Amino acid sequence: MTAGATAIHRGRWRRAWEAIDERLGLSGLAYPVPAHANGIGYILGGITFFGFLILAVTGIWLAQFYHPTPATARESVVYIMNVAPAGDLVRGVHFWVSNIVMATVLLHMGRVFTTGSYKRPREANWLIGLGLLGVTLGLVFTGTVLKWDQEGYEALNHNIEIGELLGGFGFWFSPEFTTSLSIIGRLYIAHIAILPLLGVLLLIAHFLLVKRHGISARPADADAAVDGGPVPAKGGSTFTAHLVRMAGFGLVILAIATVLTLIWPAGLGERPIPGTETTKPPWMFLPFYPFEDWFGLSALLWVPAILFGALALVPFVDRSRYRSPARRRLFVAIGAAVAIAAVLLVVYAFVTVPQAHVQEAL
Ligand code: HEM
Repeated sequence: MTAGATAIHRGRWRRAWEAIDERLGLSGLAYPVPAHANGIGYILGGITFFGFLILAVTGIWLAQFYHPTPATARESVVYIMNVAPAGDLVRGVHFWVSNIVMATVLLHMGRVFTTGSYKRPREANWLIGLGLLGVTLGLVFTGTVLKWDQEGYEALNHNIEIGELLGGFGFWFSPEFTTSLSIIGRLYIAHIAILPLLGVLLLIAHFLLVKRHGISARPADADAAVDGGPVPAKGGSTFTAHLVRMAGFGLVILAIATVLTLIWPAGLGERPIPGTETTKPPWMFLPFYPFEDWFGLSALLWVPAILFGALALVPFVDRSRYRSPARRRLFVAIGAAVAIAAVLLVVYAFVTVPQAHVQEAL
């Protein structure tokens, strides 16, 4: 191509882009963000978001074949694994990405905690984040029940028992709430409609606040400003570059989940045997499992309530204006102790023999 032809070609592309941009306002996304927003610590929330997109797409495919009744649920999962087009692969990616997302949510929260990014003016966004953590755990829990194998059946029995412990407030968790639809059907609706809708609403609020406040400055820079130093610069990168990087990480987790699926396909346990309790919950619930052994089922209510309550109080108790870990030693030490305790509880729960906690069987 001659130099003139290349210039005409470029001119066409530019005009096409300008025509699209005039209508969709895409260049508005190129607003400045700090360069450190592209570092791994500050992009974990974005990776989580792209993980949710993968879960939505794979989940829609699985929903074409899944049949949520006690008589058909497990058989329809067997159908997905053996007959549905790419069913086994899609199911495996859905399973592994859900585990990766759980890990990235926790790491994202750990980064926000360590850098003190929950401090003024981001207290509300910390609380919204806790809501998102609850939704994520709810999605994993309901997803586990849907398989309707021994593990899913035991998770459901725990769900019912917790409903009873909640008294009048627990009506939704009870199979007696309605006789027109089995409880597995209602948990399915929670998995594909109620929790995703709640999650989307919380995510919109979360992102609007991130946009409103901007990503927090690096702790050392923020502290220097508190001590009278220069206010940290806002630019260095653009949101579009940040978005491309997030999408890149999204593809990386898709690739990791695919490889994991090929090595360790998502499992399916035996048909449930009523009245038995032989499995342990997925890893993210294991920190609560030993408490259930020690104090009974009610621990599944009060231990998470204390944990979430304490997390909700964090921004209101850690009141100093400084954000560097070195200037918040007590809080960082408490956070580290809780994280180490959670890991030790997981290991302990992993090595102990499963105990029966639920008296009644369905
Ligand atoms: C479904 C889960 C979540 C998603 C998709 C998500 C997404 C994001 C994204 C994209 C950001 C921008 C910066 C970054 O990526 O680090 C962010 C910031 C933030 N998130 Fe989350 N988040 C989630 C859960 C949480 C949780 C569990 C918490 C804490 C309890 C939290 C608290 C915050 C706070 C305080 C900020 C502002 C941080 C700053 O400005 O440095 N988020 N979130």
